[in-house]
Amino acid sequence: MERSLQGKTVLLGVSGGIAAYKAVEITSRLVKLGAEVHVLMTPAATKLVAPLTFQAICHTPVMVDVMREQTGGVDHVHLAHKADLYVIAPATANTIANLAGGHAADWLGICGLAVTCPVLLCPAMEANMYAAPITQRNLQTLKNQGWTIMEPGEGRFASGLMGKGRLPEPADIVEAGLLLLGRAERQDLTNKKVLVTAGTTREALDPVRFIGNRSTGKMGFAIAAAAAARGADVTLVTGPSTLPDPAGVKVIKIESALEMLAACQEAFPGADITIAAAAPADYRPLEYHDQKIKKAGDEMTIQLVKNPDIIAELGTHKAPGQITVAFAAETERVIEHAREKLIKKKADFVVANDVTAAGAGFGVDTNKVSFITPGSVDELPLMTKQEVADRILDKAVLLLGER
Ligand SMILES: Cc1cc2nc3c(=O)[nH]c(=O)nc-3n(C[C@H](O)[C@H](O)[C@H](O)COP(=O)(O)O)c2cc1C
Repeated sequence: MERSLQGKTVLLGVSGGIAAYKAVEITSRLVKLGAEVHVLMTPAATKLVAPLTFQAICHTPVMVDVMREQTGGVDHVHLAHKADLYVIAPATANTIANLAGGHAADWLGICGLAVTCPVLLCPAMEANMYAAPITQRNLQTLKNQGWTIMEPGEGRFASGLMGKGRLPEPADIVEAGLLLLGRAERQDLTNKKVLVTAGTTREALDPVRFIGNRSTGKMGFAIAAAAAARGADVTLVTGPSTLPDPAGVKVIKIESALEMLAACQEAFPGADITIAAAAPADYRPLEYHDQKIKKAGDEMTIQLVKNPDIIAELGTHKAPGQITVAFAAETERVIEHAREKLIKKKADFVVANDVTAAGAGFGVDTNKVSFITPGSVDELPLMTKQEVADRILDKAVLLLGER
């Protein structure tokens, strides 16, 4: 990932949250990376941190009063038009509502409407305010228009309440901004079709019970979001997941492995790249009971039958130009098992991870993976699932170019 912001213009919107002081460190980090930073503050934010603090760091006028400050003598959308990245941190509940409503009474709102660059919004508020359905609805509205919403952290608030709503660390916000900018500039998947599978499957035993696994869908959703941000036409086939749909992605929701296979078979013929990040069940119950199975003896036996291997199945119908990527979630002899999968699934490469390793596997935000091709093993360091997603796509794009 490009680690410089030399020649880039970054707008930093600061609203009146208790975490406004952390925006000072964000500014400092952006300036150190070489960006031209323009800070936009709501009047409420100026009660918490003095505009002069930001001005001393970024050497550009801080924009507060829409009717007073002018963007260098030019029109009011000048800054928005020259921006390469717009970060809003912290974003209060009020500012989020304003942005979702299209209000333009402050600089944050004007730029929210006028920018065409990627936007990274970092909500920060007390846990109940964050969880409020109206706040969640407003965030979804902004997500639907392609903005990236950074998940707040969990912790204790001044009110004594524990929960979600803390502003992420400034370093993580800047990293997320770099990632977003990198994707927007790459656009190397324009006119390409990408098929991604994600999550667990549910293999029903009766109307209320099923066999499933711990996969949450995080890795597959991250790949789908990254591919869409890089310009691809993305179809995501996912099992049940609590994650929000990624912006700009066609999402097909299924329950069982057989349903996942059917959805994939439909999308696969047109797909340039197929990435199977899902963990579909290997087996399903032989028998489905129409009525809830009653409690009976001390022991019970459920007979299982093998499910089709989805990526292997797709691999047998692969056209010469298509790239397929399989995942190998292992708990032992990771590389050895991944090599076997590479051959069995006719994949171009396998993304292998030890799901028992710290920071890797199900439910966590990071992953530590290796790429296995017929002739190489490429071990990657521990990184966020967003970064892993980009590295997988980098590799797939490279292989696609070699075809
Ligand atoms: C000390 C203090 C801290 C506050 N912290 C937050 C906060 O972290 N998040 C939030 O959404 N509102 C917070 N508020 C409430 C906002 O400041 C208030 O809703 C304000 O209208 C926001 O205006 P703005 O969105 O235009 O900046 C805080 C208020 C005070 C007085």
